[in-house]
Amino acid sequence: MESVPRRVEKVIEPQPVVEGAGVKLRRSIATQTLDYLDPFLLLDHFASNNPDDYKAGFPMHPHRGIETVTYVLSGVVHHRDTLGNSGSIGAGDVQWMTAGGGIMHEEMPQVRPEGIEGFQLWVNLPAKLKMTRPRYQDIRSHEIPEFKREGGTTLRVIAGVIDEVQGPVTGIAVDPLYLDVFVPPHTSFIQPINRGHTAFAYVFEGKAKFEENGAMVSHPRLVVWSDGDNIRVTTEESPVRFLLVSGKPLHEPIARYGPFVMNTREQIEQALLDLRRGTFVYSESR
Ligand code: FE2
Repeated sequence: MESVPRRVEKVIEPQPVVEGAGVKLRRSIATQTLDYLDPFLLLDHFASNNPDDYKAGFPMHPHRGIETVTYVLSGVVHHRDTLGNSGSIGAGDVQWMTAGGGIMHEEMPQVRPEGIEGFQLWVNLPAKLKMTRPRYQDIRSHEIPEFKREGGTTLRVIAGVIDEVQGPVTGIAVDPLYLDVFVPPHTSFIQPINRGHTAFAYVFEGKAKFEENGAMVSHPRLVVWSDGDNIRVTTEESPVRFLLVSGKPLHEPIARYGPFVMNTREQIEQALLDLRRGTFVYSESR
C-alpha cells in the first residue's frame, strides 16, 4: 500500500488562560477553538520567569476518568497525592498519572531563578478504564532515552517506540507516542505515525514547515495533522523544537466538567456527589 503523507489540518494559536489558584498558561486543547482532539482532552504550556505568574500553583484538587501528563523543561514542581506519593518533578522529568476512579493531588511550581516551563497533557481513558485503580509513573530525566538521528535531529522518547527505542512510559490505553523533538536548521524529519491515530505537534521553539511545501509555522502553535502514514517537518535557517504526540482515538461520548472527564452527565453528577460525601478517592471496596 502506498504511504500517505499527513497534511496540516489546523494550526492553532494557544489561548492565554489562568488556571489553578492563579497560574498563567497557554492552552491549545480544551478551548473554544478546539474542545478536544480525541483521545487528547487538554494541552497547557506554562512558561514564565515571573513568580507571580505561577507560584500560586494548583492546590489540592480531584481528577477522575483521565490521565494527566506533566513534562517539565525547566524549574521544579512539587506534588503530593492521595496515593501517598510526594516529591518533585524537575527539568526533563515526566509524571504520567492515571487518575482512574479518583485521585486528589496538588501541583505546586517552586519559585526558582530559572522560573518554570513545561506542559500538561490530558489523555482520555476508555469507558472501561475510567474507574480503574489510579496509577502513577514517575519518570526521571535520565530514564528518558535521548538520541540523535543522522542529519542531527535529536529525540527524547517519553512514550511509544521510535527507531526501535522504547520510551519509559508503558501500559497506556491509547497507545501513545510522546516525543520531544529538536530539528536543526536545513533539515527534514520524517516519521511514520500509525494510520488512524490522532497526531499533533506543539511547537514551542523556532519554526518549521509541518508538511511538504507547507507554510512556515512559528512557535507557539499547535499543529494538527490529518490522517496518513507519516509526517514531515522541514526547517530552513531556524531550528525548531516541538512535542510530537499521537494516540488512538476512543470514539466514545465525552462528558466533561473541570477535572472530571466521563462518558455521561450521570457519571459527572456521581463524581460531584462522591466529592461531597468524601467517597471520591478510589478505593478497592467500591
Ligand atoms: Fe491536576
